[in-house]
Amino acid sequence: MAKIKIIYGSAGGNTEMVCEKVAGILSAHGHKVEMLKAKLTDPMKLVKGGEHGDFDLLILASPTYGHGQLEQYFDKFLQGLAAVELKDRNCAIIGLGDPKYDSDYHIESAKFIMDFLKKKGAKILHMPLRVSKCPLPLLIGHVDKWAEKINDQLKEMGNV
Ligand SMILES: Cc1cc2nc3c(=O)[nH]c(=O)nc-3n(C[C@H](O)[C@H](O)[C@H](O)COP(=O)(O)O)c2cc1C
Repeated sequence: MAKIKIIYGSAGGNTEMVCEKVAGILSAHGHKVEMLKAKLTDPMKLVKGGEHGDFDLLILASPTYGHGQLEQYFDKFLQGLAAVELKDRNCAIIGLGDPKYDSDYHIESAKFIMDFLKKKGAKILHMPLRVSKCPLPLLIGHVDKWAEKINDQLKEMGNV
């Protein structure tokens, strides 16, 4: 059983819906999953020994807004997270977007979070989950498959 934190920003609810699906699947595999809104979470609480620091996997999730930007509260959260040691800690990424807003920056949030975590020396599990357009038709067959892959990787690492 792994302790998993999912921290997300979601202005319109799509990212929250995707995170809930992922949380449901990972919980069904016996993991202890906690979802936290970036808007209400102090990044400093993720330090080891902090209120939210005891995790085996940290999943960071944000949609893309305003030509390749992160959701505003998630952006603020990530700026704070820069001060938190994440070296060798297991992380995974969820990014949402829609090419109709800006095809040059389609799901740029996933790339942004990936670059951030690489710089921090985090261990990134599997590939980022990228969700384009309305997530509803993708919850089964895309989102759930990603969550299963994450579970497989946790299993390989001895967390199940
Ligand atoms: C004003 C606005 C700007 C957006 N800009 C982008 C963008 O640059 N790239 C992208 O891939 N998606 C963009 N999107 C699409 C959102 O990322 C997408 O609708 C997402 O599902 C919203 O997630 P949320 O409901 O969790 O907030 C934009 C949406 C809006 C409303």
